[in-house]
Amino acid sequence: MRKVKRCALFREKYNSGMNIPIKKLKNGFSLPEFGLGTWQMGGREEADSKNDEKDIAGIRAAIEAGITHIDTAESYAEGHAEELVGEAIQGMNRKKLFITSKVSGWNQEHEKVLQSCKTSLKHLQTDYLDLYLLHQFPPDYPLQHAVRALDKLMDDGLVKHIGVSNFGVEHLKEAQSYTKHRIVCNQVHYNLQVREIEQKGLLKYCQKNDVLLVAYRPVGKGKLLEDVPKIIEELCVKYQKTPAQIAINWLISQKDVVTLAKTSDPAHLKENLGAIGWYLTEGDVELLRKEYPDQMFVSDVTPLG
Ligand SMILES: NC(=O)c1ccc[n+]([C@@H]2O[C@H](COP(=O)([O-])OP(=O)(O)OC[C@H]3O[C@@H](n4cnc5c(N)ncnc54)[C@H](OP(=O)(O)O)[C@@H]3O)[C@@H](O)[C@H]2O)c1
Repeated sequence: MRKVKRCALFREKYNSGMNIPIKKLKNGFSLPEFGLGTWQMGGREEADSKNDEKDIAGIRAAIEAGITHIDTAESYAEGHAEELVGEAIQGMNRKKLFITSKVSGWNQEHEKVLQSCKTSLKHLQTDYLDLYLLHQFPPDYPLQHAVRALDKLMDDGLVKHIGVSNFGVEHLKEAQSYTKHRIVCNQVHYNLQVREIEQKGLLKYCQKNDVLLVAYRPVGKGKLLEDVPKIIEELCVKYQKTPAQIAINWLISQKDVVTLAKTSDPAHLKENLGAIGWYLTEGDVELLRKEYPDQMFVSDVTPLG
């Protein structure tokens, strides 16, 4: 087991919980290597309030345990996931949190991006976002319009950093060519099973060009933890870790990759945080890259656009 390299990672005490190591790019942008997702909090495509109390408690528990990066989007439960995050962080020190939200593809016309951001800020009860992402390559509007709107939001101080999600190499390059401000990250579907970003050269491109990869769905919504393959069973024994911890750690053991998992369950939160503070050996990272069974080369959530 490799130990955390203190010289390469910057630790900062945010909360009473554990210190989550930070990954820092050469350009200065940094993110904790593990954060909290909110897809399915407050509903799915539509708002549903039946689990609000549990979800708010889940967000608070994650922050108390040391998580500072919280990821949400205007589309999650029609904005209700953002509202739950807003509710959960009331009374907390905003400066110690890193909040990401996303503008949906259908809102990526210039004025709509500006409006979406303002609505997200209202839902989140905050006056800035730490990171604002284009949720996917805009299907209906010129990319240039959306990217210029991100620049304006930066200039107006409403967002601190900008990025994209589900972008392939060519569209990422195109977005970078239009921005005054740097595109600091690309949030993508990446886990032991879904390897589109490796197959299409995006992993290497981002690592070479100082763009952070934020891997979503690290435990495949729990599916990677069912019928665990032998190779994972063996690594669980070797590292004395669970399949979820190996799956999360495989991501954060890679250069310029951080991840996010959603949970509202205290036991899952504790388990997921057990993936932090150690790394798989490079040999085991590569072993899993090659040998993990039934890999998929196109995302079944949002293929790279
Ligand atoms: N940019 C995009 O297009 C995009 C797409 C998808 C997701 N995302 C973001 O990435 C975040 C993470 O992805 P995700 O939520 O889709 O998938 P995920 O984090 O891989 O899985 C979350 C699901 O797995 C369960 N889970 C979490 N930890 C577990 C554990 N240790 N054992 C068993 N079950 C566990 C959770 O249920 P419990 O609550 O019961 O623990 C939840 O149902 C999202 O929440 C969202 O913020 C972004």
